[in-house]
Amino acid sequence: MPKSWANYGIELHLELAGTRVRSGLETALRDAVQTGRLGPRIRLPSSRDLAADLGIARNTVADAYGQLVAEGWLEARTGSGTWVAERPVSAPEPAGPRADGMAGPRYDLRAGVPAGSAFPRRAWLAAGRVALNAADDSALGYPDPRGVPELRAALAGYLARARGVIASSENVIICAGFVHGLALISQVLRDRGATAIATEAYGHLLHRRIIEAQGLRTVSLPVDEGGALPVGPDAVSAAVLTPAHQFPLGMTLAPGRRTAFVRWAARTGGVIVEDDYDGEFRFDRQPVGAMQALAPDHVVYAGTASKSLAPGLRLGWLVVPDSMIDELVAAKERSGFFNGALEQLTLAVFIESGGYDRQIRQARLAYRRRRDRLIGALQRQAPAVRLTGIAAGLHAVAELPGQEREDVVVARAARHGVAVQGLSDFAAVGHRRGPALVIGYGRPTDHAFTTAVSRLCAALAESV
Ligand SMILES: Cc1ncc(COP(=O)(O)O)c(C=O)c1O
Repeated sequence: MPKSWANYGIELHLELAGTRVRSGLETALRDAVQTGRLGPRIRLPSSRDLAADLGIARNTVADAYGQLVAEGWLEARTGSGTWVAERPVSAPEPAGPRADGMAGPRYDLRAGVPAGSAFPRRAWLAAGRVALNAADDSALGYPDPRGVPELRAALAGYLARARGVIASSENVIICAGFVHGLALISQVLRDRGATAIATEAYGHLLHRRIIEAQGLRTVSLPVDEGGALPVGPDAVSAAVLTPAHQFPLGMTLAPGRRTAFVRWAARTGGVIVEDDYDGEFRFDRQPVGAMQALAPDHVVYAGTASKSLAPGLRLGWLVVPDSMIDELVAAKERSGFFNGALEQLTLAVFIESGGYDRQIRQARLAYRRRRDRLIGALQRQAPAVRLTGIAAGLHAVAELPGQEREDVVVARAARHGVAVQGLSDFAAVGHRRGPALVIGYGRPTDHAFTTAVSRLCAALAESV
């Protein structure tokens, strides 16, 4: 009969199969070491403890340990106990040369991800310590599906102050990043009878897929120098926009367009989803205030920690009209997906203590410097390339000379060790601008950034 073992030193489930107890124990231990479940230097329980746990004779355990020591799986010293032997870890085979002879990209200039090295580890840990010390036992129970009250209050204050959002904590719902919020909004609208949602013709393909996964159609809004055009959105129930910084083209939604969308929403009962993914990172002037303030009854404001802190946190927030709160909370409950209370409490402390503002200011300065270095390097080494969308954010668009082909330039950059995307990766079917590259300058570490940019410039200079 299988027996299991859970002792106080380490937790490990052992299946002792068969009728021969000693060989069953040897096999189970050998298997645990071989598969890595018991890693090098892990101390095993004494033969007395393990025998007691498994309800078998102590000598049986001692004999099994002895056998595995003899085989080299375990080591033992009198008085020091028994532990898993150190063995050379079989490292993964180094990747061989690719069939096409190209080296894989070493420098990642794709848009979307901030530098992991910019994450404020120490300040985050300090905020986490404060949050955990202050949390009472009830904070460790199932969290409020809307998000913990402390974070909702901290965000309402921050968003009103820094982004001009009209927010009370009652209207804030925490979600696992923008994508989760978008899925919830799509569900609510579908349940209300919606069949289609408009998205900008340039944007994240994933966002369109998320909407479509909820059984809705997406309709593309053309984008020109003034941002998305409110062209024929009457057939849709919502429009997802990036007003502060169009993704990925980089312009701000023109004031006349903002009002036109708001009028459309008021006239038709439509919903505007304002994706404010990097609204704080404006370099030339004050960040553009949130569009939500124009029509808080029609706009769902959506923010995220993915650019300001790290996407790995999976923390985002919605500020929603009163009329949508209950439906969105119900959708979130149905999704079964809540954010962990401790990370939410940590972010609340981080915001209230001024850490978030400090992080934004430092990151803004760092990204601005990177952007300036990119502009300088391109002007020197590839002057035929025109950089646009540079007033904000963590990425820019490099317009290539007309005779270039995006895919060829992307492949050439890869040969120089640089991963970068063509603008057409972000275009809806039937929409074409370019040729152009979308260059993310957030991702490389500080020390890799200079090389990444000079390699990209070398690839561009080959062609122009
Ligand atoms: C346009 C846009 N919106 C939103 C996000 C953030 O998404 P999430 O909060 O799910 O990480 C990103 C991140 O890359 C983005 O590019």
